[in-house]
Amino acid sequence: MADIIEVLKAAGQDDLLKHLETLSGDARKNLERDIASQDWNELKALHAEKSAANLSDNVSADLQPMPFKIAADDLRYDFWKETGEILLGKGQVAAFLVAGGQGSRLGFEGPKGMFDIGIPSHKSLFQLQAERLQNLAAQVGHPIPWCIMTSPLNHEATVNFFTENNFFGMDRQNIRFFEQGTICALTPDGKAVLDGEDHLALVPDGNGGCFRALAQSGSLAWLIERGVRYVFLYSVDNALCRICDPAFIGALASEGRSMSASKVVPKAGPNEKVGIFAFQNKKPGVVEYSDLPEEYRDMKNPDGSLTFDGGNIAVHLFKLEGLRKLQTSKLPWHTARKTVCGIEQCWKFEQFLFDAFPQLGTMMPFGVIREEEFSPVKNAEGNDSPKTARIMIGKLHKEWLKKAHCEVKADKLYEISPALSYAGEGLSRRVFERELGKSILEFDEE
Ligand code: UTP
Repeated sequence: MADIIEVLKAAGQDDLLKHLETLSGDARKNLERDIASQDWNELKALHAEKSAANLSDNVSADLQPMPFKIAADDLRYDFWKETGEILLGKGQVAAFLVAGGQGSRLGFEGPKGMFDIGIPSHKSLFQLQAERLQNLAAQVGHPIPWCIMTSPLNHEATVNFFTENNFFGMDRQNIRFFEQGTICALTPDGKAVLDGEDHLALVPDGNGGCFRALAQSGSLAWLIERGVRYVFLYSVDNALCRICDPAFIGALASEGRSMSASKVVPKAGPNEKVGIFAFQNKKPGVVEYSDLPEEYRDMKNPDGSLTFDGGNIAVHLFKLEGLRKLQTSKLPWHTARKTVCGIEQCWKFEQFLFDAFPQLGTMMPFGVIREEEFSPVKNAEGNDSPKTARIMIGKLHKEWLKKAHCEVKADKLYEISPALSYAGEGLSRRVFERELGKSILEFDEE
């Protein structure tokens, strides 16, 4: 207790201290626990730094594009795929899902992974991912460990959902759930915000908290014990994510002195709201859409294509050494001013996982085709919504069927269960006839 008093005094949190002293019993214990979870020196320094600076995160003038090629056009693609399958088959690859976000734009109450985007099977995003992983695991002949990061706001609901659904048929031993950290919101003048009498207003510390949380939860050690060497890190809301894509894994493993690789799609246009891969002061990384100065956003090559064209789809692969390094490295904090617990203009802080890249040195961009691999579910309607995801899945799966010479209907879209096909393989006319109405479902665009 003496420690807390000293720390809070030094951090200028006298009001919080006075409030704590009015509490007793469980209420006091609750608040003490919240207080002990925070680094008050860091919060003080952060508030001072961000108050002094312009709110927008600075982007250095020395910005260079990061060239990338569509990997499937590379002659080495099949070799990469085989290499990845061998590594998966040896149990050297794990999946790491960051699912601690609040999904506020989608407006769905509950973990986003539980969301049903409205495809005919009504499978949740979690189920689609679980089935795709299991299919791949069966093909390579080895289970794929799955780390799932939640936040204190959605942990219980996530674990309950998996439990109620019997882990979608996966072996519970191969899944590890853990919570990310939180950081206290501050009032405009730097005081801790209270959420009720006996709690601080603690918000998830951003998807960049994943490296710390992986290590602190013991999950990094769990992966090391299992002999994992590559970790495939992805977001919960990409309905087309090729989880643990063997070619991606094989490319990093066989080409790379890089510590990490990232999937890249050509931007749909200068105004698409995705971060772009670029070199800042010669270091590779991602620049957020909102931080990219207009002159760079609109810059064109002589052939008319965008100069800063490499869109970030939040699909990454890390070598284990990279994750070891990142567990203790400090990522920058980004800020937003929001109303928190009724107080306007509070400071909310978060870290972004892509800020890890400049710390790891070289990285490998791996170009992919948007229609095959990227359909984020961010908004309730319009762009990047459940409807766009439904249509993209329907069109892609129809393409797979066409390639397999199946007689699809021109005015219909198709959903193929990830348990039947991971990425279009294993389809034929016979399979189509057998599975239509079962693992293959027909639907209308509307
Ligand atoms: P987004 O940046 O899209 O945020 O997250 P979000 O919380 O899902 O949605 P909005 O912005 O509130 O509408 C990208 C990925 O990072 C995860 C999300 O769960 C998603 O998979 N994430 C985000 C975390 O794991 N923790 C966080 O603190 C924030």
